[in-house]
Amino acid sequence: MDFDSKSEIKKKAFEVLKDGVKNRDSLFHTLTLSTFDGESIDSRVMVLREFNQKERRLRFHTDARSKKIKDLGISLISSVIGYDPVQKIQIRLKGFLKSSHKNKDTLAAWEKSQDISKKCYSVKDGSTSIISTPSSHDFHIKDVALEDGYENFSILYFYFNSLEFLYLQRSGHRRCKFEWSNGKLQSFWLVP
Ligand SMILES: Cc1cc2nc3c(=O)[nH]c(=O)nc-3n(C[C@H](O)[C@H](O)[C@H](O)COP(=O)(O)O)c2cc1C
Repeated sequence: MDFDSKSEIKKKAFEVLKDGVKNRDSLFHTLTLSTFDGESIDSRVMVLREFNQKERRLRFHTDARSKKIKDLGISLISSVIGYDPVQKIQIRLKGFLKSSHKNKDTLAAWEKSQDISKKCYSVKDGSTSIISTPSSHDFHIKDVALEDGYENFSILYFYFNSLEFLYLQRSGHRRCKFEWSNGKLQSFWLVP
């Protein structure tokens, strides 16, 4: 591909994100999402479940009781980053988050989830609670009513309006930024 062409780079970025949904070997299958709680920034790895190119939207699944969901009460602003050392491509996205809980979207996503994924949502107290012994919240899949976990299941949608692409190559890296504002796209080359 031609890394001196902004339109090809944009196409490539969208392909990489699309591939990351299904391809478990892609490092874009597990992206790092950051939120802001008013004082500090928290980043965590999350599995990419869907990429909607038209809406510029990523879908993640999480526990409604988690810190990242609480952060949305303070700020919806978020960023996502991924890097694949085989492809030598980094993608940085900036945008905002929207959560969904107990509606038709979450029900459809829940119904498509595997039992092993559903199990996580039955954990007592939700993630990030302080516990005295590390094994106190261990449980086996057969010991829970898996469907009860739906109460805690949330979708986190990330909508981006900025995409920065970095390609590493010996002869000179290529760094390019795309920004969407009021339906208009602007793109820039940046010093890598
Ligand atoms: C490979 C990998 C994939 C993960 N996928 C998810 C995920 O899809 N959803 C999720 O909520 N947490 C996922 N986690 C756990 C998060 O990174 C994080 O530890 C947890 O969600 C608590 O985050 P919080 O306290 O900031 O809300 C994953 C962790 C790893 C290492």
